[in-house]
Amino acid sequence: MGDQLTPFISAGRIQKRVAALARTISSDYKNKRPVLVGVLKGSFVFLSDLSRRLAIPHELDFLETESYGASTLSSGVVRLLKDLRVEITGRDVILVEDIVDSGLTLNCLEKTLLTRKPKSLAVATLLERKTKKRVKVNIRYRGFWIGDGFVVGYGLDYNEKFRHLPHLAFLAKTLNKPEK
Ligand code: IMP
Ligand code: MG
Repeated sequence: MGDQLTPFISAGRIQKRVAALARTISSDYKNKRPVLVGVLKGSFVFLSDLSRRLAIPHELDFLETESYGASTLSSGVVRLLKDLRVEITGRDVILVEDIVDSGLTLNCLEKTLLTRKPKSLAVATLLERKTKKRVKVNIRYRGFWIGDGFVVGYGLDYNEKFRHLPHLAFLAKTLNKPEK
């Protein structure tokens, strides 16, 4: 069984979109010093590009949630594996995600972070899936909408593979050999 990739969004298009998001965020947070919280591991490429394009001072921190592991389906279970180091009480926080699918991860993270009484909490995601969403989440900054299909690249993985790709691609399982 092999993995077949079909191009989805080019590196150039991603960079243009990230630059536009960074301009919007820089203007929305003018004279502020937000904390950008990346949700590991998928958001690390998006966060690093976004951060380097922001024209405002900001801090960076990371959270890690339980991932899907080897499955391409949501387990529906969200567990915090790594917590923040920065104290976010009274701070402007921007949660940075790679993709919002069912919304479960984001919903859980929002609830957790809000108990710490940040001054504000906004969400920036590279991708938001149109269909399958089960939980209502408020997304202030979105890179692109996406329909069905599992995407990899630009930080997103399948079984820890493909994170390094500069573009986004759909992953298709190709059945070359019969499975055991
Ligand atoms: P949610 O909790 O269902 O919204 O899932 C969000 C998380 O699932 C994302 O942060 C990703 O880590 C993972 N995920 C969902 N869809 C994809 C995909 O198409 N490719 C890679 N990871 C995905
Ligand atoms: Mg993620």
